[in-house]
Amino acid sequence: MSETAVDLDRRRFLTGTAVVIGGIGAATAAVPFIASFQPSARAKAIGAPVEADISIIEPSQQVTFKWRGKPVWVLRRTPEQVEALKASDGPVLGDPESQKSEQPEFAANPWRSSKPEFLVLVGVCTHLGCSPSFRPLPDADTGADWKGGYFCPCHGSKFDLAGRVFAGVPAPTNMTVPPYKYLSDTRILIGESDGGSA
Ligand code: FES
Repeated sequence: MSETAVDLDRRRFLTGTAVVIGGIGAATAAVPFIASFQPSARAKAIGAPVEADISIIEPSQQVTFKWRGKPVWVLRRTPEQVEALKASDGPVLGDPESQKSEQPEFAANPWRSSKPEFLVLVGVCTHLGCSPSFRPLPDADTGADWKGGYFCPCHGSKFDLAGRVFAGVPAPTNMTVPPYKYLSDTRILIGESDGGSA
């Protein structure tokens, strides 16, 4: 195996590990808040907002939270990943301005987010509801010119690092950005924005 292949494998392993640890860290960090601020399990199940600690997320890593029974991803993008979303030589997109897609008003920008660094996305494919996988690096499924994004293994839909769908794949629209708002630089509330709750 070449050194490049070993590096790629190692990086994928580290990314995967960090996501798992990040999820555990999020659960651990949230414990003190559960008694005082977090809604009950029943309230969460019917859609109460969920508070998420985003300070645990490293650049180019993603942590999964749960809101209304769905996975909500929070990805911390690097400055290079943020810049790549503006590039004119990127993939041809199916809904580049998100005119057909679901998102809060504040996310009507190339990053589809409140702050360019953090993407908050409902982790469900808009084709038939599979959960795409986070692919920060090129691989056999995505192709060599891949700049990072999401690949849905069910029928091959591809999305960029803002959840924008590529043209010509089965998924009809971009992945959904849920309402959310910043409580501080390190905590967000998923399910409620300054425009109101979902
Ligand atoms: S469910 Fe994702 S491509 Fe079909």
